[in-house]
Amino acid sequence: MPTRRAALRAGAAVLAAGAAPARAASRPVALGSAAEIGAFRSDPRYREALKRYCDIVVPMNDLKWDALRHERAGFDFAGADEIVAFAEANGKALRGHTLLWGEALPPWVGEMTTRAEAERELTRHIEVVVDRYKGRIATWDVVNEVIKYDPTSGGPWRDTVWQRLLGPEHVEIAFRTAARTDPKARLVLNDFHFEERDPGAAARRAVALDICRRLRDKGIPIHGLGMQAHLYAERTIDTEGLQRFMRDLDGLGLDVEITELDVIDWKMPADAALRDKHAAALVASFLGAVASAKRPKAIVTWGLTDRYSWVGETFPRKDGARARPLPLDADYRPKPMLAVLERYRRGTG
Ligand code: G3I
Repeated sequence: MPTRRAALRAGAAVLAAGAAPARAASRPVALGSAAEIGAFRSDPRYREALKRYCDIVVPMNDLKWDALRHERAGFDFAGADEIVAFAEANGKALRGHTLLWGEALPPWVGEMTTRAEAERELTRHIEVVVDRYKGRIATWDVVNEVIKYDPTSGGPWRDTVWQRLLGPEHVEIAFRTAARTDPKARLVLNDFHFEERDPGAAARRAVALDICRRLRDKGIPIHGLGMQAHLYAERTIDTEGLQRFMRDLDGLGLDVEITELDVIDWKMPADAALRDKHAAALVASFLGAVASAKRPKAIVTWGLTDRYSWVGETFPRKDGARARPLPLDADYRPKPMLAVLERYRRGTG
């Protein structure tokens, strides 16, 4: 655990890094959040916060295979339909997450043994899901986390059932099928760990560009790259690396979207005000680096309130203090991070 002094120094460094880059274009950026069905159903303040602070809503888990495909034969759209109907009733745009991922899969997917079987199931799944929300879900994370954590050794592809049975073509099949099923939908390659100043992040940026370029060269529709941006409070944003990455995406004619923004603060001192100030500075530094080279199409946080977040469960603090990863605290009170996000929403970011 860094000392308070070290944290303040780190905060100062982030603030120094966060300020300055001139903005490419300061037009309003759509702000959004993922909606977790349990909290959505049980907590009225959760729904009110989605209405108040969001232009975009993303079903957090209900469009994943494990939620939709308990049985191989059927589809369970109950949760997804509920959140889609809520968004439409409140004039919110929708992002779909996700048509292909190596996790959150029902057991029967692991029983597939042949290439033909995997291609048949993947194609049918994407056709049925995308067709159901055609013209309603504007943007899809077609593939999620297909890049190996450290692509510098043993090839770029993450070891998933789709990679094992279909090889690298699993990504092409997914994008081709989504584009054929809803030609108007925006199609996104979504992944994480692009933001930090380390060789792994740099290698992942290169792999992501390479995947996008290959799809482009084969004439397979892709419209953008999704940066999840689960930011580690103790790490430094690679401003120059991100600016180059944004210019390279521009070169490919692709958009960038921030798709799962939150701050992992398990290594920060317990002081809540300090953590919140540091998290806001880190988010400002990250968004500043991106927006200085390319206006993001959307900024989506992975939830809105600290009351419900995967961060505390996955990165529990030794001191047992609650994680503070999101723009609203556990009692739905705005935190400094919200002010940073709302500047982008107003176009003054
Ligand atoms: O809803 C069921 C509940 O009925 C059941 O009692 C309980 C116990 O098994 O599980 C509940 O479902 C859980 C669901 O979250 C709802 O909270 C699933 O088990 C659990 O796996 C699921 O975790 C989600 C995880 O993705 C896996 O799908 C997290 O909420 C979600 O935040 C996380 O999000 C991922 C993104 O999709 C991709 N990027 C990383 C991000 C964080 O891991």
